[in-house]
Amino acid sequence: MSNSKKRKILITSALPYANGPIHLGHMLEYIQTDIWARFQRLRGHSCIFAWADDAHGTPIMLRAQQEGIEPQELIDNMKAEHERDFQDFLISYDNFHSTHSDENKHFAESIYLSAKAKGNITVKTVKQAYDPEANMFLPDRFVKGDCPKCGTPDQYGDNCESCGAAYSTTELKNPYSVVSGATPIEKDSEHYFFKVSDYIDFLKDWVNGGAIQKEIANKMNEWLDGELNDWDISRDAPYWGFKIPDTDNKYFYVWLDAPIGYIASFKNLCDRNGIDFDEYWRNDTSGNNDTELHHFIGKDIAYFHTLFWPALLKAGDFRIPTAVYCHGFLNVNGQKMSKSRGTFIEARVYLEHLPAEALRYYFATKLSNTVDDIDLNLQDFQQRINSDLVGKVVNIASRCAGFIGKKFDGKLSDQLADQALYQKFIDAGDSIAQAYEERRYSKAMREIMALADAANQYVDEKQPWVVIKDADRQQEVQGVCSLGINMFRALICYLKPVLPELAKKSETFLNAGELNWDSVATPLLSHEINRFKPLMTRIEEEQINAMLEANKKRLAIAATLQAKTGNDSNATEENDSQLSNDPISPTIEYDDFAKIDLRVVKILKAEHVKGADKLLQLTLDLGDEQRNVFAGINSAYDPTDLEGKMTVMVANLAPRKMRFGISEGMVLAAGPGGEDIFVLTPDDGAIAGMRVR
Ligand code: MSP
Ligand code: ZN
Repeated sequence: MSNSKKRKILITSALPYANGPIHLGHMLEYIQTDIWARFQRLRGHSCIFAWADDAHGTPIMLRAQQEGIEPQELIDNMKAEHERDFQDFLISYDNFHSTHSDENKHFAESIYLSAKAKGNITVKTVKQAYDPEANMFLPDRFVKGDCPKCGTPDQYGDNCESCGAAYSTTELKNPYSVVSGATPIEKDSEHYFFKVSDYIDFLKDWVNGGAIQKEIANKMNEWLDGELNDWDISRDAPYWGFKIPDTDNKYFYVWLDAPIGYIASFKNLCDRNGIDFDEYWRNDTSGNNDTELHHFIGKDIAYFHTLFWPALLKAGDFRIPTAVYCHGFLNVNGQKMSKSRGTFIEARVYLEHLPAEALRYYFATKLSNTVDDIDLNLQDFQQRINSDLVGKVVNIASRCAGFIGKKFDGKLSDQLADQALYQKFIDAGDSIAQAYEERRYSKAMREIMALADAANQYVDEKQPWVVIKDADRQQEVQGVCSLGINMFRALICYLKPVLPELAKKSETFLNAGELNWDSVATPLLSHEINRFKPLMTRIEEEQINAMLEANKKRLAIAATLQAKTGNDSNATEENDSQLSNDPISPTIEYDDFAKIDLRVVKILKAEHVKGADKLLQLTLDLGDEQRNVFAGINSAYDPTDLEGKMTVMVANLAPRKMRFGISEGMVLAAGPGGEDIFVLTPDDGAIAGMRVR
């Protein structure tokens, strides 16, 4: 691979929502992006990494309301938290901005106005659910009700979690707004649409022109060959976002200005340090433009980035992305990240117990250029770090450094003891670089570890610890260990995009300045190195367990808060989020509360319900009577685990006829839904029948 022409690259990661903490799923993407950025820089290219928090939308507005603070305060706090996480994970971004910024307002308006001038904007009347108490239109995820087919309560407006029926929001029985609890009404509203179909020919070319992965292109072609609907880009007040020019009460939908945040963040950086904005954003890729724009995103938001986004850029006369790279989702121990299992791991909790570089390396061994999901298996994680990094890479240095330091005053020999072996390390560079370039990090890591094996094997065979005892063969030991140190140096060079901290410590030890990709070609000869200090320690099982424990506690606190406020910080408005939102309860008077008869009960029996995937049928003991209750907790609990447990129920809820029988009350549980439901389990002497106060 040629390294001669200096590339000018701008890269981005997807903007995290500013209403919740960063978790390891996010970090998969941000580490993937960062490795690529660091790799490019190590090769001598310019690579600017600019991104932001995604700070708009209904969930952020409502969360701020609940916390009794202004949205601005909420997003400021979040931004500070997010940035601290990124820095501690060694993410080498150049700018982290916010979509709620002057720059973003400017670009959102100008792109919109440009699209409008080109005739790409239409206005249509839309019927939408409206909350007459909160006086607001309700996004789909904010309307719930009883399933029209099976009657299961608290279902979202698109499909029933219990019987799987699909329907539209208007078909829900007893619908209610999760904002106020009021019954929504239907109301007409004018919405602004972006006519994506105006760009169909351009999109077909772009999608199939190699800028996106084949599997994503196939998916997008399905959309492009079908009916390409106009995209609804407006929301009615009250909304937390930017007002649409020339309207009184219409706001840009969060997804309109979110990607524009890439431009805004870059502009903000330019204004501070004099980079030429136009060079990166104004020219078309077909022109003289020699800058590159690469977006890293998750597969769940491909649609926004490979259809709407290029069309918007075209409409606004901006340059088109060089590439959009999708990655798969992160699982933990073979399953979707789950709050109830405690595997929904927050970045901060990880950092409090384990080193950032361990996760960076583990992700690197797993990442490729496909959209396949990736598993963080914690046992495998521990083994990988201990055997690869501590056992192989760092081990070479620690085996060789002692002899060089003690016996040869830190001086490396004046030639390589085995030129052919070292040549292997040089030759591997091109293939490793190509793997990085193509985002096939797992391949790069495999090749690097094969070199580490070769280096260790060499030292094993030469047995310097034996030879050193022979006074006539001292020179030989210096030769072997010097080569060992040089092989270690080559490994660190190749690992530097993944392990910047280890690289830094090694650079100090090697005492020869900063390593770059070409350093491998010039080994250190007759050179004095510094005293060796331990570079990395093993990961112990206790650390992982402590991390999981701490995370569980953290999640339990979050779940309690959520049960109280109804706020799920992970609720997103329109992404195909793996987490669902919970109702936000209206305020009630004490008298209302006093009406609720809460009782401690014992779960005598728990069984699956035929034909209802989500339900468990519970037989509850109230001390003096038994009740039959259907609870939507099948996804979270194995029935046998529940039998014999105490829980809390609403005992005076009117009986409800369901398809499978009559439900005589409700058990209390908290959590965002799915596998993440926690049935309340009182202990400390709770007895069936006790009243809860
Ligand atoms: N705010 C939008 C993105 C706007 S970009 C103009 C968003 N935010 S997000 O916080 O939900 O996700 C941010 C990024 O993290 C997305 O690329 C998403 O795919 C990624 N991930 C979120 N959870 C993830 C996993 N569990 N695994 C891997 N990536 C995940 O979407
Ligand atoms: Zn149903």
